Amino acid sequence: MSLLPAPRTVLAGPPRPLRRRPNRATGASERLAAAVGRLPPMGLTVRFDVASSPKPVPALGDVAAYRLRLEDAVALVDAKTEWGALAALATLAQLGGGDRLAVAEVRDAPRFPWRGLMIDTARHFMSLATLRRALDAMWFYKLNVLHLHLTDDQGFRFRSAAYPELASADAYGADELRALVAYAADRGVRVVPELDMPGHATSWLAARPEWAFGDTAPAGPSARFGIHRACLDPRNANAQAAVSALLAELAAIFPDEFCHIGGDEVAGMPDEQQALFNGGAVRRLAALGKRAVGWDECLRADLPAETVVQVWRGMRGRDVALNAGHDVVVSAPYYLDLFYPADVHYAFHPAGDYRAAEAARAADPRLAHVSEGLRWMNEFANFPKLPSRPAGRVLGGEACLWSELVTDELLDARVWSRMPAIAERFWSGQARDDVLERLALTRRQLAALGVVPEDRAAMDAHADLAPLIEMLEPVKWYRRLLGDAGYRQRMNGMGGAVAPRPYDARTPLNRIVDRIAPESLASRRAEADLAAGAPMQGWIDGWRRQRVALDANPALQAELGAASDALAELAERVADGRREDAAALAGPFGEYLLPIAYAVADAPARS
Ligand code: ACM
Repeated sequence: MSLLPAPRTVLAGPPRPLRRRPNRATGASERLAAAVGRLPPMGLTVRFDVASSPKPVPALGDVAAYRLRLEDAVALVDAKTEWGALAALATLAQLGGGDRLAVAEVRDAPRFPWRGLMIDTARHFMSLATLRRALDAMWFYKLNVLHLHLTDDQGFRFRSAAYPELASADAYGADELRALVAYAADRGVRVVPELDMPGHATSWLAARPEWAFGDTAPAGPSARFGIHRACLDPRNANAQAAVSALLAELAAIFPDEFCHIGGDEVAGMPDEQQALFNGGAVRRLAALGKRAVGWDECLRADLPAETVVQVWRGMRGRDVALNAGHDVVVSAPYYLDLFYPADVHYAFHPAGDYRAAEAARAADPRLAHVSEGLRWMNEFANFPKLPSRPAGRVLGGEACLWSELVTDELLDARVWSRMPAIAERFWSGQARDDVLERLALTRRQLAALGVVPEDRAAMDAHADLAPLIEMLEPVKWYRRLLGDAGYRQRMNGMGGAVAPRPYDARTPLNRIVDRIAPESLASRRAEADLAAGAPMQGWIDGWRRQRVALDANPALQAELGAASDALAELAERVADGRREDAAALAGPFGEYLLPIAYAVADAPARS
């Protein structure tokens, strides 16, 4: 069974060949009829029995359980809501990717009601077409919250009617966002907007410096990455009137009960001032009938209890927030911008014990080159002691794609390489051994449906170097963003002048490191062959050949030379059955890793 997320129960049925003919819908609402039109052709009549009448948009508490039965050429969908029926259709879409149907019945319901993806549209603008593709794929994997990070230091992506001067050149208009909300609802997805306040506000203050707290007004717009000092003044009446007006505009566009107020990484003002700011934003939203969500820096004794806390600075924050009575959305183990392999994210259950998963991550050789950074990260969050209240709930999880190193063009590959595995944790809570196979298979289905193409850009651009490029991974955690010097400096205590970062928002992201997957699937295949004692000659030939091919590409020498040499050396080690010290050939080589070196080091000795 190749379904991802895996359903609660599946009853097998007699295998029947799929008829590649159009499907029909009966008993369908307009929304469900349109969704049936997006299924692969299976020659089915989809018959709906949906208990409640259609609603314009989904809400957090809505039931998404469903039952799907397959009898001859009929698929019967039973659900309490349209959202459950849409989930049933996602299951049907995945069942329709093979060449036969061997299922009689699926019964299914989500473990968590909040199954989210956050997309940072500020560091790099993401087009509406890209957001719509993300929503199509979210439906396919039963994700149901798109969190739009609309403003940050480098960009303000909302074209406000009252304050149009805040908007960046690339920004979404109200009508565009309304259309996106409707598109999302048709896929069972809620949209939660975020204005990141009071820090991360350089873009606001570049246009309206008079709203700055103290001396934090910036000299102008910023393309720099990293924490900025600029923040909004909680006692400035004009700034607060603007916050009220902007939240009211968003409330009129986004019908969701939740609105995100940011609150992370406030460097330019004392805690008490930030608390004053947050409290004001939470109350303004309450007056608009909304509940606020804030990043975990918002946690203080005076944060109103109904505020949802989005935990990002380690799982310990989840338990601090729950104990203080807050409902929680868990993001800490699900940062897609860190270039982690899927299984590193998959090890974490949003509501489960996290110590074993953290220990596994700390021991993972693929993260060895950032292990100091990971230790640093475990310690950097300083959560306050808070009075206990009746415990909050884990609403679910949200994977975050911060876009310092992601453009509109790169988003698909950066999200869907790992997100399907995380989606399973959010939908079923369970972990299964075969998740990576199901991930690969459903990704091919998604490509066949024309939603998100498979990612081959790096290889197709340099076919002669494919045996090298397919083995490479980008360095992990924040190492690309910080650069080698910046990484060392952070590990040494952040003193002195900050090392210049290798990237800002204007740096073209068009090198091979931008286009390779966070996880090398070829490396996994080679690893499996090594472990099984399978013939390695094909791999060895390719790893030798790439070294010769690189000599014919002088422009790529500086970037890939060291990794290429290491892979050529690994070819000889594998050919000779030598394993000692092979792990040293994993790198990092600039921004690249060669994870196959760990597998060579661990391979069983050959007789
Ligand atoms: C965050 O990653 N600054 C929430």
